[in-house]
Amino acid sequence: MALLAHQLKTPLSTINALAQGLMRRADRLSTNDIRGRAEKIWRASLRLDELIETIMSYTRASAGGIVLNPSEFNPDDLIRRICREQGNQEPERPFHLDIQDLPDFIVGDPILLEQAFVIILSNAMKYSPPDQPIGIAARTEEDMIRITVVDKGIGVSERDLPFLMQPFFRGQNAKNLPGTGLGLSLAWHILKLHGGGLDIESEEGRGTSVTITLPETNITGFSYTI
Ligand SMILES: Nc1ncnc2c1ncn2[C@@H]1O[C@H](COP(=O)(O)OP(=O)(O)OP(=O)(O)O)[C@@H](O)[C@H]1O
Ligand SMILES: [Mg+2]
Repeated sequence: MALLAHQLKTPLSTINALAQGLMRRADRLSTNDIRGRAEKIWRASLRLDELIETIMSYTRASAGGIVLNPSEFNPDDLIRRICREQGNQEPERPFHLDIQDLPDFIVGDPILLEQAFVIILSNAMKYSPPDQPIGIAARTEEDMIRITVVDKGIGVSERDLPFLMQPFFRGQNAKNLPGTGLGLSLAWHILKLHGGGLDIESEEGRGTSVTITLPETNITGFSYTI
C-alpha cells in the first residue's frame, strides 16, 4: 500500500507544483509557456487516471472474479484500433504493425482482451524511449492467435523475469517510472480465462518481447476469481 500511495503521489505532486506555478506567474508567462505547463499537467493527470484505473480493475477482479462476456469480434480491427489510440498519445513513436492471416472472427471478451492488450502495449511504451519503435506482429498458428509486442527499452534483468506476473511486483530498473505492478498479473488472468497465455522474453538494456496466445474460440469458463 505504501508503494501504491507513493506512485499516486508522484503525478499529484507534479500537478500541484505546476498548477501553483501557473497561479503565481500566469501574467508573466508567454502563451507557449502556459501551453507547455498545461500539457504537463494533462500528462500527469493521465498517468494518475491510468494508475487508479489499474487499481480499480484489479480490486474488482479479486473481489468478484472476472466475469467473461464472450462475443464474436474481428481481432484485426481490435488490434489496429488499440494501436491507433495508444499511438495518438505518442505521435513521435513509430508503430510497426505486421498482422497476417488472422481469422475474420474470434470468440472472446473484447473488452477484457482490449484491457490485456493495452496493459502490454502501454508497458512497451512506458519502458522504452518515446522515439524508439514498437513492433506488433499477429499470426495464427494451429488455431491459436499469437500477438507479439516488441520494444527496444530498458528490458528486465534475468533475476526479475520470473516474477513479472506476480501482483505488485516491479522490476528493479522500473521503480523510478510510474506503475502499480498489477497490470501484467491482470493481463495474465484475462488470458488464462480465455484459455490462452502470456510469455515474456527480455534482455536488460536491450528490450522486451511479450507474446499473447489466444485460442480462436475456446473459452474455459464464465467467471474466474484471482
Ligand atoms: N515492456 C517492458 N519493458 C521492461 N520492463 C517491463 C516491461 N513490461 C513489464 N515490465 C516489468 O514488469 C513489471 C510488472 O509490469 P506491470 O505492468 O504488471 O506493472 P507496472 O508497469 O509496474 O505497473 P502498472 O500495472 O500500473 O502498469 C514492471 O514493473 C517492469 O519491471
Ligand atoms: Mg504496466
